[in-house]
Amino acid sequence: MLQHFFNPSSVAVVGASQNPHKIGYEILENIIQYNFRGAVYPINPKADEILGQKAYPDLMSVPGKIDLAVIVVPPALVMDVVEQCGEKGVDSVIIITAGFKETGPKGSHLEEALAVRARALGIHVVGPNCLGIIDTTSSLNASFAEGMPLPGHIGFFSQSGAMCIAILDWAFGQNIGFSRFVSLGNKMDISEVEIMLSMERDANTRVILGYSESIDNGPHFMEAARRVCQTKPIIIIKSGTTSAGAKAASSHTGALAGSDNAYTAAFKQSGVIRAKSMQDLFGYAMAFATQPLPEGPSVAIVTNSGGPGILAADACDRSSLHLTPIRKETADRLREFLPPTAAVYNPVDIIGDATEERYEKTLEVILQDDMLHSVLILLAPTAAVDAEAVAYSIVKLAKNADKPIITVFMGERGVRRARRILQDHSIPSYEYPEDAISAMDAMASYRRWREKPPRQYRHFKGDTGKVRQIFSSIIKQHRHDLIESEAREVLRAYQFRLPENRIAKTTKEAVLAASEIGYPVVMKIASPDVLHKSDMGGVRVGIENDAQVEEAFFDMTSSIRLRQPDARILGVMVQEMIPQGKEVILGITRDMQFGPMIMFGLGGIYVEVLKDVSFRIAPLSVESADAMIREIRSFPLLRGVRGEAPADIEAIRDALLRLSQIAIDFPEIIEADINPLLVCPEGQGAVAVDARFTIHE
Ligand code: COA
Repeated sequence: MLQHFFNPSSVAVVGASQNPHKIGYEILENIIQYNFRGAVYPINPKADEILGQKAYPDLMSVPGKIDLAVIVVPPALVMDVVEQCGEKGVDSVIIITAGFKETGPKGSHLEEALAVRARALGIHVVGPNCLGIIDTTSSLNASFAEGMPLPGHIGFFSQSGAMCIAILDWAFGQNIGFSRFVSLGNKMDISEVEIMLSMERDANTRVILGYSESIDNGPHFMEAARRVCQTKPIIIIKSGTTSAGAKAASSHTGALAGSDNAYTAAFKQSGVIRAKSMQDLFGYAMAFATQPLPEGPSVAIVTNSGGPGILAADACDRSSLHLTPIRKETADRLREFLPPTAAVYNPVDIIGDATEERYEKTLEVILQDDMLHSVLILLAPTAAVDAEAVAYSIVKLAKNADKPIITVFMGERGVRRARRILQDHSIPSYEYPEDAISAMDAMASYRRWREKPPRQYRHFKGDTGKVRQIFSSIIKQHRHDLIESEAREVLRAYQFRLPENRIAKTTKEAVLAASEIGYPVVMKIASPDVLHKSDMGGVRVGIENDAQVEEAFFDMTSSIRLRQPDARILGVMVQEMIPQGKEVILGITRDMQFGPMIMFGLGGIYVEVLKDVSFRIAPLSVESADAMIREIRSFPLLRGVRGEAPADIEAIRDALLRLSQIAIDFPEIIEADINPLLVCPEGQGAVAVDARFTIHE
């Protein structure tokens, strides 16, 4: 579909100018000077010729067909040019012009009208407010960036034009090449989704890189990314990670869920690798674009000095990689030529007087060991070593290697040329061991993601009619928050296990309810207006007898009346006390871009302080539910510590999947917490003790 953007037979530049200070000149110049092989048509009503090319007053005057039009006229003229494109049958347009959505309501309006018209004319648009597109395979530089990147295997897209310029400049310095370079601008029509899909099909792109500020259609993005990641890695740096929207939230889940959590979850679920910095972005790209994926997590480190070896080993320890001990056969082979003071375990320390020959022999032996899946070569520029000669040895051995070889030549002056040799021969070379390990970890993780069997989804048939009835009655009452009994009904409709309970309006009713349920009981204030009941003195646990019920009833109702006089009190809920278990919290929040998001964490009152929670976008697969349970730092507490019985993890998973189903079935739920879900020991299930839901019309 996007073929004309990347490999057109003819390009028109509308707004091409003879004035070398204008963008319309620069774009035309870029197209011509980097040897684009197709026809080029400058369009300008005042010029006969620009940069040696015959100019045309308008698109209709061009004799041939036009595959791609680049528009560089002022904003007020863009609509007219788009109309001309329609008339001429141009189906692909890059709008460089700024002055649209990014400028405010008036610009937004103009952009919207433009989008509607382009769609009606069957025209695809990159931009507006963008830098343009570069494709090194077709030698097309339809941008006003300075210079043409080297050909390479990295496909890059960016929402920021300035970032494009900075990255291009940086890549020149690093000798890093690109297959395609796309500045998305305002994403009026073509977004990262279409670009990722086009790069998936592009034979010259091995790894897809992106700088993203926002993703408009989350589910669409996830679907595309999940598909593309099956064959090509996608690495994205996402800026704008603040969670301003979370401040107004009333539930725990809402307060904890910033939009950044949604992005993190969506990236994880669709296989996208998230770079934390620009350094990571290109560090990972170098490794992915040039090296085969490792067969597994086992890393061998070869070094001529102890310190860097230890730093690398420490970084390994913090990652998913394994520093596997070198097996005996390999160690014996290494001992044959290494000095007795060398360490032949892992890291393999070939010590300070190592020469290029020692490096080469060691690497040769390591590469032959199938138990080692990737190799990290560290070099400190000692007087004994010729760093450039080591670089050439690595290049020679890498030609036939089937595992990733990554290098860290530490220092600057003594290793600069050696690093360049490695880079020129597609061997990733980093300045610091941590960066190298981070890239290797990303590769191993990506491989694991790709090899996972297809995700399993379970459908739970809830009593949707019942829930709908509850929700419509609440909306009719102009309420948004469900009271506890309503929340319980919703959970019951999806077969959650709930504690026995009764609502009591008087002390007498409370005593009766408690004796029917059986002591001990829990009592909670029943009010649609009291959101955090325990904070307000609205919860009492471990009530043992009638006298304590009476006392609690009185205390609670008076405490609420005192602290929140306007709260409506419907009575007190008397509840079965669940004997023992671990408290966890489950929640729903709705993200603007990605839709319903499910949260999991260890429950109780400290959840917002500790923030030890995990998120995934609904619908959850069984695997995602499992992963989010295991991901929290306090997971070992659920497995049981100091002889405790492990908690029923399967019951948590089941509850997460059911909650995900509720979130999918009822888009009107904007926030929900099940807090706590009391998880009994293994095999004994889990009970939803308390829940709250907030809905909107
Ligand atoms: N068809 C073709 N050419 C036309 C035209 C038409 N209908 N109407 C005017 N032109 C010509 C002009 O005559 C001019 O050529 P000239 O130099 O020979 O006179 C040329 O198009 C450009 O128009 P001009 O009015 O000089 O505009 P400009 O070059 O000063 O600015 C933009 C045009 C698009 C560069 C400017 O509006 C803009 O958006 N700048 C910001 C771009 C940007 O930052 N994008 C985002 C990057 S990340």
